Amino acid sequence: MPPADRPSDDPFPEAQVEALLAPAVHRLAAPTSLSPLPYDLNAGVPDRATLPADALLEAARRALAEDAAAALTYGGQQGYEPLRAWIAGRESRDARDGAAPVTAAHVTLTSGSAHGLDNIAATFVGEGDIVVVGAPTYPGAIRTFRARGATIVESPQDDDGLVPSALARVLDTRRMTGRQAKLLYVQSNYDNPSGATLPLQRREAIVRIAREHGVPIVEDDAYTGIDLAGPPLPSLFSIAGGRGVMHCGTFSKTVATGLRVGWIAAQPEIVRRLVFMRFDNGSSPFLHRLVHQFVTSKAYEPHVARLREVYRERRDASAEALREFCEPYVTFRTPAGGFFHWLHLHVGLDGRAVAQAAAEHGVAVTPGAGYYASGGGEDRVRLVFSALPPEDLREAIRRLGQALEDVARQIE
Ligand SMILES: Cc1ncc(COP(=O)(O)O)c(C=O)c1O
Repeated sequence: MPPADRPSDDPFPEAQVEALLAPAVHRLAAPTSLSPLPYDLNAGVPDRATLPADALLEAARRALAEDAAAALTYGGQQGYEPLRAWIAGRESRDARDGAAPVTAAHVTLTSGSAHGLDNIAATFVGEGDIVVVGAPTYPGAIRTFRARGATIVESPQDDDGLVPSALARVLDTRRMTGRQAKLLYVQSNYDNPSGATLPLQRREAIVRIAREHGVPIVEDDAYTGIDLAGPPLPSLFSIAGGRGVMHCGTFSKTVATGLRVGWIAAQPEIVRRLVFMRFDNGSSPFLHRLVHQFVTSKAYEPHVARLREVYRERRDASAEALREFCEPYVTFRTPAGGFFHWLHLHVGLDGRAVAQAAAEHGVAVTPGAGYYASGGGEDRVRLVFSALPPEDLREAIRRLGQALEDVARQIE
């Protein structure tokens, strides 16, 4: 019932709900949501037409035929062992010479990587602990760490991602103040929102710097698999020989966000603590078995290869349209993977004003300011190219060009 229709003698009014909220609720920004506008370049979701529904139906049938009772009862906190072993195999692909093998004991399954981040935060972050993140970074990570009481400290990014020299200064400063960071959150591939991919030398430097400061790394790798410029570089997890890095992965972007199946790979001592700090009776054993059936079937590799083709075409079509319709007002670097263009607005243009003007033309884009924990990003806009086909992207970006013109005219 809408508030106005409630009787005034409501025994549990909304004001009471508000008064009872945990302090963390007031520290959090609202999450992004799907837009009702005709052209949504805001939500970083996969293309619906690529969802492998038929293959998943078949995988579900096989999962239930194999062992319905095991699929449909509690499966334990760490998750289905064969899927963990399959993930461990993937995590081992770039293992350095002499590194200990990654095994199922190094992997715990989560309900998407968002839950993985929360599981890590619950296990390591206490009230007032410092978590270092890139500037910009994924707002979901900022919310998750803040919800557990973290103080967020930013470390700058440039076009190649987190800048190691600046990170070293941030961690040195923290050490000098006697409050060393508890965690360092990094996206090594196709960063959300910046699209940046860390070059190999930076990866090695970041692992070294974090290790020197005794700070574990949370490596969020949500978009790996959507590799649009060749295979990804070795993860921080493999560069570090699996020590001191918690590597969060997900089947959301390469299979389906609705599955809610992700994982954390980490050293077994850490995995044991992560598993200990779960109070949800584990993720779904049925979905673990279904995903395992799918990724070990003949359908999986061709599916991911097709995704790469689809998203490469969309990335390129949107880049071309941006050059054609928006070039006088924006610059950007074509990302090597993932779902996003990170637009740098020319002097004087404000991301919020651009997003507002774009909405008037029926296009949703995301102002850059929401990706910074402590302010900044007013001259940025994030644009998602994954969810719309090339012709719609072109039309949306043509309209965005008009919106940019409108805003530019207002400031002249
Ligand atoms: C950087 C990043 N990490 C994590 C997630 C969470 O994904 P999921 O929980 O679906 O695995 C997202 C989703 O958009 C993301 O962009």
